[in-house]
Amino acid sequence: MRGRFITFEGGEGSGKSTHAAMLAHRLKSLGIGVVLTREPGGSPGAEIIRHILLSGLAKPLGAETETILFAAARDDHVRSTIRPAIEQGQWVICDRFIDSTRVYQGSLGLVDPRLILGLERVTVGNMLPDLTFILDVPATVGLARATTRRGKASADRFEGEALEFHEGLRKAYRALAEQEPKRCILVDGRAPRDVVSERIWSIVSSQLHPEPTQTVEEKVAT
Ligand code: TYD
Repeated sequence: MRGRFITFEGGEGSGKSTHAAMLAHRLKSLGIGVVLTREPGGSPGAEIIRHILLSGLAKPLGAETETILFAAARDDHVRSTIRPAIEQGQWVICDRFIDSTRVYQGSLGLVDPRLILGLERVTVGNMLPDLTFILDVPATVGLARATTRRGKASADRFEGEALEFHEGLRKAYRALAEQEPKRCILVDGRAPRDVVSERIWSIVSSQLHPEPTQTVEEKVAT
């Protein structure tokens, strides 16, 4: 049976990485095979491209080139990590995916949506997420969390953008949730961590019905 594919999205410091990890842990504790992964990255080739993008090395080349690099990383990630896991019946939980490109490069970077959709078609094909959680927090709250988390390290390529950029991200994510209400669930990321994780769990369990992964032998026996 095909596995499930869940992505987490949101601005800086929205809590997506924490909730992606909490969901993966909960599914694993039920005996479900889970791959927890992230973008940009998630496969050896894509991790190399991640370094180029987040260090800011590609910024002078422009938003179109960055978009193409995110797509190149995604192509390797889907082919090497996501597709094989889903075809084996595993659940893939991914921290950021296509919606980050739509929002960061599309809405904020003003890259032509036709380029973005064309690249999505080539890199993702039918591997679209079953569910996407968009964690919604005010930009000032998210940036304060990101600054605390980072400690003395310097801001990466996108963290370093101005406050208006981060406010624009929030708006664009909220608009996306309205455009695709079946797939995209907007979750208030300001609520206490356990409240957020219970909300996520109730949606996953009611919509995707997690059951322990059965091996081929077990299936034959039942
Ligand atoms: P990361 O260090 O993974 O941090 P976080 O996800 O916690 O913010 O940074 C990934 C950065 O890359 C983030 O600022 C969003 C950006 N990004 C894009 O601009 N486009 C994309 O398609 C993806 C996947 C990420």
